[in-house]
Amino acid sequence: MAAFITFSFLLLIIIFVYRNSKRRTNKVKLPCGDMGLPWIGETVEFYKAQRSNQLFEEFFQPRMKKHGNIFKTKLMGSPTVVVNGAAANKFFMSNEFKLVVSSWPTSSVELMGKNSIMEKQGDSHRCLRSIVTSTLSVSGLTAMVPRMCGSIENHMQKNWLDREEISLYRSTKMLTFTIVLECLFGIEIVPETLFGVFERVLEGVLSPPVNVPWTKFARAKKARAEIEKVLVGEIRRKREAMEGGGEEEDDMLFSKLVAASIRGEITEEEVVDNVVLLVFAAHDTTSYAITMTFKMLANHPDCYSLLLKEHEEIASNKRAGEALTFEDVKKMEYTWQVARETMRLCPPIFGSFRKTITDINFEGVTIPKGWKVLWTTYGTHYDEKYFPDPMRFNPSRFADPVQAYAFIPFGGGPRLCAGYQLAKLNILVLVHYVVTRYNWSLVYPDEPILMDPLPFPSKGMPIKISPKCD
Ligand code: HEM
Repeated sequence: MAAFITFSFLLLIIIFVYRNSKRRTNKVKLPCGDMGLPWIGETVEFYKAQRSNQLFEEFFQPRMKKHGNIFKTKLMGSPTVVVNGAAANKFFMSNEFKLVVSSWPTSSVELMGKNSIMEKQGDSHRCLRSIVTSTLSVSGLTAMVPRMCGSIENHMQKNWLDREEISLYRSTKMLTFTIVLECLFGIEIVPETLFGVFERVLEGVLSPPVNVPWTKFARAKKARAEIEKVLVGEIRRKREAMEGGGEEEDDMLFSKLVAASIRGEITEEEVVDNVVLLVFAAHDTTSYAITMTFKMLANHPDCYSLLLKEHEEIASNKRAGEALTFEDVKKMEYTWQVARETMRLCPPIFGSFRKTITDINFEGVTIPKGWKVLWTTYGTHYDEKYFPDPMRFNPSRFADPVQAYAFIPFGGGPRLCAGYQLAKLNILVLVHYVVTRYNWSLVYPDEPILMDPLPFPSKGMPIKISPKCD
């Protein structure tokens, strides 16, 4: 009897809450769109399109054609409004913390850590961001260029020398991972020992958060625990050395994070979670951007000739084996146009979710409090209003300034990518080393690109290489 009364009571509460929310949303003008099936909404269609890297063609574009640039749907149980176009990007990105907050799936938060910058707001977000960006100031970047050249030289000696074919994607992934550890953090860990463990964590970040032994999520949690153990050991060793006067705070990010923890500005957990988050944020995105830059160059020989000329000119002013400087990198203007055009067409990140913290009125529709907002790169990057003849690869369109919030591979507003400068440096310096030292060609010019959870070339983008004569 007691169980029956409790059940009836709960049912009444659910009906009351449902009716109330229905009445509230009935009164306002919601964006057009279909919410799909109960609870799961259009999640299956979304995941299917994502897996085959057809999110724009199969999910966003048909709905934009039917409902307009702003439409509603339901994804992973949440009512969601997808927004496209520079005005919407500006509105939602710049109103972070005021009208919206970033909103990541449970599995991503569990695996990156609740203390990572992506979960922070207000003062604690500002504090962590300023530590990260302090290493990427002009003086930080100037010091980083020769270090990066060293890491690339070593990687090429070990993995490219005397080889006729390499997987460009796997090689750049390993290399960008190494660069983050060696050049950004200055952590003394052999990168190869942790690379595979990080890969296992990544496999779980968008999987259902079910922690039973055979799931991707459980494997990822175990891998995350392994990383945590290594990092805690490194943090304590560094802390002891710094407190004992054996080591001083230097310009590397790991040292700055540990110093901030000694001063009590951040906790040990915050150091661990942010190292994990930054390694992820940095290496998969950058390696995909580099790989796709080479694919675009292979398919556009006229652009490659221009780019090669730029690098040959820089190399002609260097002695054999002399490292690049930040001044040299600044001269790589056309290469940066090529890289930006590549990221416009093939963005490493398709978009990002926010959650509304109040009812929002935007362009005549209301997005109720608690709904998700998904901004997407494709919807703006492929719009001819901002980029005429949008599907054509045309790097020189970036010779002139682009409208604000129309080119958003790095996001915008308070959550603009904190590692933007590092990514730029990494792409430009690596392109220089490859094109000045090797003749190269794609093994599979039409290799399909898949997504899980980030985009990747399905065969690892093998390239044939042969060293150039000096
Ligand atoms: C081509 C390479 C990269 C791309 C395309 C990229 C893209 C992005 C995007 C779109 C966001 C915003 C996400 C949002 O609005 O929710 C973001 C944030 C972030 N990125 Fe990057 N990223 C790249 C490289 C890097 C690198 C090298 C680092 C490491 C230093 C990094 C660190 C971060 C961090 C810490 C954030 C969070 C910022 C915050 O919440 O305040 N990223 N990135």
